Amino acid sequence: MRLGPALIAFVCLLLPAAWADDGTIVIKFSHVAAPQAHKSRATEHFKHLAEAYTNGRVRIELYPNSQLYKDKEELEALQLGAVQMLAPSVSKFGPLGIKAFEVFDLPYIFAGYDELTKVTGGNIGRELLERLETKGLVGLAFWNNGFKVLSANSPLKSPDDVLGLKMRIQASKVIEAQMWALGGLPQVMAFSEAYQALSSGVVDGTENTPANMYNQKMFEVQKHATLTNHGYLGYAVISNAKFWRGLPADIRSALERAVAETTPVANRLAYEENEAALAEMKKTGRTVFHEPTPDERAAWMAALVPVHEEMSGRVGQDLIERIYAATGFKPPTQ
Ligand code: LMR
Repeated sequence: MRLGPALIAFVCLLLPAAWADDGTIVIKFSHVAAPQAHKSRATEHFKHLAEAYTNGRVRIELYPNSQLYKDKEELEALQLGAVQMLAPSVSKFGPLGIKAFEVFDLPYIFAGYDELTKVTGGNIGRELLERLETKGLVGLAFWNNGFKVLSANSPLKSPDDVLGLKMRIQASKVIEAQMWALGGLPQVMAFSEAYQALSSGVVDGTENTPANMYNQKMFEVQKHATLTNHGYLGYAVISNAKFWRGLPADIRSALERAVAETTPVANRLAYEENEAALAEMKKTGRTVFHEPTPDERAAWMAALVPVHEEMSGRVGQDLIERIYAATGFKPPTQ
């Protein structure tokens, strides 16, 4: 069911406090990643710290694997107060009207983790999180997943190889434009449905991080993948602003400390899991992984970097330029 903004606004006024009968504050933390995934392990770490720092006055209940809500529904559920915390991919905020987050999806905008951290760990990242307030949300942190590979059942050595392929994507207009730029046919689909769609041939290919490809068993139904590292996938840890601001100040700061201390752990777990997942998938031989040559990489960049200009009206030219300045990125044509 799609809930209209007016209904969401009305119900938010009536937000039920998440207090259990014994006075414990219960925080339902929902997400779509597999129970063994690094995102789950990061939320477990957060739970441990949060419960310890609040001396048990807060209980964190974890709901991984889309068991409560799929991608779009979980954001609506948070706005309605049915859950209190989420860590959705930054590529999923466009449908809420927060288009600037799609700047993270611009192909090749981050050369690596150092450049990324200049944004997520600096003023730009903080200001992006603050923008969530306009939608009744509080942005608490960015947690990494990693950099994406492109996969399909046919080899993807050059942009031309994507021509005509149906590609599962997250709900981001920038990722959509990226797939159009390659001649692919983007299909927005919930994470929980991607494996089935790939295995039944509803879509031909996709992009994701090695960790997600492994945990969702996508490698079992994709014969080829190219280590393009063309885009970033990460999460914004968020809560409902009315809920968060309504917490006793000491509890709120204890939870904020728990989130902040979890961030480096979450990023380390993600990094390690992406490395291990890639090695494991290579070992199984189900998917052939191709490392682009320098010339091939230049061809991918030439096809994809124009998406920055094409999408500048949507994500904000100023924002793109601030990121270029922070990271030192130079479009190949300059
Ligand atoms: C996806 O939908 O591919 C990812 O955002 C899932 C996730 O949470 O890592």
